[in-house]
Amino acid sequence: MSNILTGRCMFSLFASIALSGLLTASGCSSSSAGAGAGPDAGGSGGGSGSGSGGTGTCPPLPVPAMPIHAPIIHLGYDGTNQFIGPILGNFTPDSLSVDNNSIATAEPFGDCNLLPTNPSPVTDVVPKVIGLLHSKGAGKAIATVKLGSQSFDVNIVVEKFTPEVIALGKKRYTNPDQPSATRKPCADCHSKADGPDHSPAAIAYLDDAIVRSIATKGTFPDCIDESLGTACTCGQPLCTPIPADRRVLNVPGGHTWEFTPAELDAIVPYLRSLPLRTR
Ligand code: HEC
Repeated sequence: MSNILTGRCMFSLFASIALSGLLTASGCSSSSAGAGAGPDAGGSGGGSGSGSGGTGTCPPLPVPAMPIHAPIIHLGYDGTNQFIGPILGNFTPDSLSVDNNSIATAEPFGDCNLLPTNPSPVTDVVPKVIGLLHSKGAGKAIATVKLGSQSFDVNIVVEKFTPEVIALGKKRYTNPDQPSATRKPCADCHSKADGPDHSPAAIAYLDDAIVRSIATKGTFPDCIDESLGTACTCGQPLCTPIPADRRVLNVPGGHTWEFTPAELDAIVPYLRSLPLRTR
């Protein structure tokens, strides 16, 4: 079931510097391995913060000042589909846990599984998927990632969806009614082998409103509250500017897709139901 990919690539990502940051990446090649998250060395790693990968074949990565990259992960739950989100960091955790397993569970994920996503709004640091979150019910929970004496929290928000909503999102994505220049199937571009990622690997840290804005306008907000994944009023505390040149998607002709109201409500839930992807 885990459709996680084991990707290896060079990519740039995130603002982990002081404020963590937004996903980004480019120029990766992917290898998809549907077989699921391999058992991670992480459980017993006892890492010291050196950032060395536990599996031996990966080059060690520096541990950035803030080794957890996305302080919030948005998931869905509909009782039918799988919703999986990544915990991103640059180290192998000693342990992963979730405070309420009726909301979500966590499992470790191997070191070499770099997470590639799209060109990022904020900065360029390389993270990996160090854990996977599986939704179990709607609500909120906190994942705790431990490394030595350090402990990091990741907020989890699980939204309630229905299988019908997911199915409508899938239809708009793959085979929309009344297709037109502004109602193209998302799959036309995104399902190509090198199509940009919008799986939870790329968007789990963003709330629904930001992802809808990306789909309908091709824009990120000017500023983002990274702890919530929401747009915020620039200048407020904890509200990080997204560099102007990263606020608009680089899509010739624009990324301004049209939806019926019901489709618009369904498209983000559908994206959240996709398997994590690397490339
Ligand atoms: C004409 C091709 C094309 C179509 C059709 C298209 N996209 Fe995209 N999309 C792109 C490209 C290219 C990017 C990456 C642009 C960039 O990184 O600057 C992108 C980026 C995205 C992102 C941002 C991912 C991230 O990591 O930030 C989301 C979300 C997204 N698309 C959703 C959709 C949805 C939903 C649809 C259908 C309604 C859709 N796209 C249709 C080309 C397309």
